[in-house]
Parts: sequence; structure tokens; C-alpha cells
Amino acid sequence: YIFKNINLFYFKMKITIIGAGYVGVNTCHNIAIKDIVDDIVLVDINDTVKGKVIDLMQSKFIHNFKTNIHSISDDNYDKCSNSDIIIITCGIARKPGMTREELFTTNYKIVKGVIDKLLQISPNSIFIIVSNPMDKILQMLNNNTNISKNALIGMGNILDTSRFKYHIYQELLNHNMEPSMNITAEVIGLHTDKDMIPLINYAKVDKVFVKGIFTKDILDKIVQDTKNGGATITNLMGTSACYSPAASVTELVECIIHDSKKVLSCSTLLNGEYGIHNKCIGVPVIIGKTGIEKIMNYDLNNEELLKLQK
Ligand code: LAC
Repeated sequence: YIFKNINLFYFKMKITIIGAGYVGVNTCHNIAIKDIVDDIVLVDINDTVKGKVIDLMQSKFIHNFKTNIHSISDDNYDKCSNSDIIIITCGIARKPGMTREELFTTNYKIVKGVIDKLLQISPNSIFIIVSNPMDKILQMLNNNTNISKNALIGMGNILDTSRFKYHIYQELLNHNMEPSMNITAEVIGLHTDKDMIPLINYAKVDKVFVKGIFTKDILDKIVQDTKNGGATITNLMGTSACYSPAASVTELVECIIHDSKKVLSCSTLLNGEYGIHNKCIGVPVIIGKTGIEKIMNYDLNNEELLKLQK
């Protein structure tokens, strides 16, 4: 094998995940199963992270992944040094009846403290922010750290988009239509119940606009169900969702590692795009090995643009 002899050029890929709650652990599991990185370090202030990591590592010989997973439950972050990607999921989760915004004071303090420490040992990492309220935390990090803008990615709209597709798919099932999974749809805007914008006008099943498939009532229901996606699960589970948030982070990680240049909706600091200045908001961006490589300029109609600028 020709590649065997060029080990010198092989750089190890390391991911750190801060927070071993449901989202952190499932993200760790998903990334491990993909077998796309050498090491994952799972960090939590709670000692149970040690058991979670042993449990995850014991699935290694069944799933056959080469990735090694390590735990940290104290102040010594040495194992995280020079991480390629750091995923921030720490903080408190939503409880039934709470909005994401109510978590800000508690979660920003936790996130900022951790990131200040990480920057000393991993200054060139790409940071994926998942902790809520994600856009607001991202904004504060843009203003109060020297992490470059492209390396600060807010994950929210990938999840919202997967929920949007789910609700379109469910309505196909409800209406006894062919349940095609070839759904093109996107959500942009803040990752909040009120302000996210499912772009219903452009959503398609196969090559057909959903506007031509469903009645106005059903279209409105799809949009509303998408916006309530997080709250609905929180009410049913007593805490926030984890499986599709973890899948969404994993997609982002894969796109960075494979330098895929895929368009995904992510929160980023806008400086004039869409007429918005110095505000973090979810818009379609190109994701590659340096993080956010380009902000796409979608041709939105007036109503959509006004909602985004609100
Ligand atoms: C949700 C949380 C993770 O939308 O923001 O489920």
C-alpha cells in the first residue's frame, strides 16, 4: 500500500466535547461510530463521565471504531490541548415551560469560563456552540473572545431543519402520500421558538414545491410544529431533546473534517449580510475545514427578510 509509508503526513484528529449530558454523550457516540477522528475527549464536572466513557469504549469492539475516547472530570484540561474541534454542550437544559432564553445568565457564565481555559491550550480550534440560548451565547463569545469569526459556529438551524423535514414527511404519511425522503427544506433565523424561520416557500418533496402539495392550513401547521419542535419534546421528556441535536452536531463535524463545502444553516456573526449588522443569527453558510467559509446570500422575499432582520 502506497499510503503506508507516508505516515509522516498523517495528522491526528482530536475532538473535545464539553458537557457529558444527553447531547454530549450522544454526540460522542455518533462521532465514534462514524470513525472519522482519532480521539474524543469528553469533559464534565460530574465524575459519572468516567463511567460513561468506559461504557462508550466498551462498544468499540462491537461497532469496530478505531476512535479512542477519554474522560476529564477535573480542572486539568491537558488532554484537550490542540483539539481540532471543540463542541460546547455544557450548562443547564430546558425544563417544561421554559424558553431557551431563560438559560442565558447561568449558561453563559459556564461556557465563558470553560472557553477561556480551553483557549490557553487549544487556541486554533473550531468551536461549535450548542448550549442555549445558542445565538446569544455565540454573540457574547464573538464580542468577548479573540476566536476568529469563522471558527465560531452556532448549531441550531441544522436541528430545526431536520424537524422541518420531519413534519413535512409526517404530513405526507398523514395524507397517504408516497413518503419520499428526498425533502429539500431549510430553516434560518434565531434558534428560538418565536423567531426561527422555516422557509416554507422553497421547501420541496422530490422536485415538487410543498406549497403545491398541501393546503394553507397544513402548511401553517408544518411551520408551527417546526417552531415548537424543541418545546414539544421538552414537554414530553421533561428535558430537552438529544438524539437529533447530537446527529446535527455530528453532521457539522463531518463536514468540517471532510472539508465538504456543504451548505448548512448555522449561526454566525453577520456584518452587513441581509442588511444585518453585528448580530449572530442562523443563515445558510458553506462549511469546510476552516469552519464557516462563506455566508450565502439567499434571495429572500420581503416578508422573510423583515422576519430575519427583526
Ligand atoms: C432543542 C434544544 C436542544 O431545540 O435547543 O431541542
